[in-house]
Amino acid sequence: MILRIFQLLIMLTLGMMLTACKDPPIERLPMDSVQHGYRGTGMVQVYNPRTVASQDALNTAPPSTPPLPDSGPKAKEVYKNVQVLGDLSAGQFIGLMTAMTTWVAPKDGCAYCHNVQNLADDSKYTKVVARKMIEMTRHINGNWKNHVAETGVTCYTCHRGNPVPTQVWFTPLEQNKGADFIGDRAGQNTPGKLVNLSSLPTDPLTPYLLDDKQIRVNGPTPLPSGNRSSIKQAEWTYGLMTHMSNSLGVNCTYCHNTRSFQSWEGSPPQRITAYHGIRMARDVNKSYMVPLTDTFPVNRKGEGGDVAKVSCATCHQGAYKPLYGYPMLKDHPYLAGPGKSAAAPKDEVVKTAAK
Ligand code: HEC
Ligand code: HEC
Ligand code: HEC
Ligand code: HEC
Repeated sequence: MILRIFQLLIMLTLGMMLTACKDPPIERLPMDSVQHGYRGTGMVQVYNPRTVASQDALNTAPPSTPPLPDSGPKAKEVYKNVQVLGDLSAGQFIGLMTAMTTWVAPKDGCAYCHNVQNLADDSKYTKVVARKMIEMTRHINGNWKNHVAETGVTCYTCHRGNPVPTQVWFTPLEQNKGADFIGDRAGQNTPGKLVNLSSLPTDPLTPYLLDDKQIRVNGPTPLPSGNRSSIKQAEWTYGLMTHMSNSLGVNCTYCHNTRSFQSWEGSPPQRITAYHGIRMARDVNKSYMVPLTDTFPVNRKGEGGDVAKVSCATCHQGAYKPLYGYPMLKDHPYLAGPGKSAAAPKDEVVKTAAK
């Protein structure tokens, strides 16, 4: 008996040592913790200093370029086929083309989007997509301030120097249920990246960041009436929450007081920003990404022929604010919305930068 306990202890210690040494050292001690809620509520953020260090390089903004003057002839007067950026001065226009090249296609240069013999030509799909992306970026900055604030986004927020952003998602194919002999797994038990390799449904994003399903665990009524909150819905909800925590590199208590996940009164203000973020991602996918489906070549689409879509991770990439809140938009005021081609007055720029 004593020998058995001894054996067990050795196995336990060995097991613990092995977990501690695993590579990469994701959860190895020591960890840092930061108080996030009222004292005594246990609302702390646990950070792994090694993960935070590796995040730094990923979230450093490229060198800033000074805003260009709004004066001189307009792009629509100088060029032949300018459908979206006509209100920019010709100088600003070429400045943005140069910036877009470093943000999206630094390897291939202008030729990634252009037939370089004729810059007005629209024959490359990448140019057609880019035009829609410019409108999308302006829409996000102009109409979703309750999420992106004055920090805003540029192409770099998602692309980070890659033609295809590193964090996109597709709707998986429906499970083959073999003439209904096999039960519906609802995407469970196949560790998925979007749900941090847990056994939650591998695709918690189609219901919420494309469709408009209820994000709920508790039903709104005591008895399961017509307004039933199903187990599947609860699992999707936890899947989405796992994706959100992972994308921002935070714990659940960044947005919730775990006394009640449901109650808004006890939640930190970040939950409201997240609430708008869910609606923003859904809007971006429905209004901009899905309509581009036929523009993309087959090799850019998912198994089911759907377009690559935006999630929280597309912009955040592990940081609580993309690029830790670095306000790149101030150098490119014309991306804040149509008709916003004038550079912001100097003191306003300084104020935004200091935020
Ligand atoms: C990521 C894609 C992309 C890259 C890279 C890019 N462009 Fe463009 N370019 C566009 C889009 C989209 C338009 C059309 C804008 C509109 O309709 O408002 C355009 C239009 C132009 C036009 C206007 C042509 C005309 O007569 O209508 C010029 C000039 C131009 N780009 C120059 C450049 C230069 C120079 C580079 C490289 C430094 C470059 N572009 C890189 C997407 C790109
Ligand atoms: C909210 C995130 C987001 C922002 C902001 C964004 N993009 Fe995109 N972009 C995407 C996604 C998602 C795709 C689809 C990925 C794919 O091509 O398969 C994409 C695809 C593209 C492509 C096609 C690349 C290819 O090879 O298929 C181009 C070109 C592009 N974006 C240009 C831009 C430009 C220019 C801007 C800024 C004006 C911009 N994007 C801003 C998310 C974004
Ligand atoms: C970035 C902020 C954020 C993080 C992190 C987050 N949540 Fe949420 N959570 C929300 C928002 C916003 C809602 C409400 C969504 C809505 O109604 O559209 C919500 C809703 C919920 C609900 C549904 C409550 C109800 O009404 O039934 C549960 C349960 C929940 N979260 C659990 C979690 C868990 C568990 C974690 C950690 C794995 C987590 N959340 C992490 C923002 C967050
Ligand atoms: C188009 C890019 C983009 C997408 C997609 C996006 N965010 Fe954000 N988010 C931002 C920007 C930019 C900020 C910084 C705003 C500011 O400075 O206040 C931000 C801020 C936040 C904050 C506030 C952080 C704080 O400490 O104040 C939360 C929470 C958040 N996002 C959650 C989410 C969630 C959850 C999703 C997915 C449902 C999401 N975001 C999708 C761009 C994005």
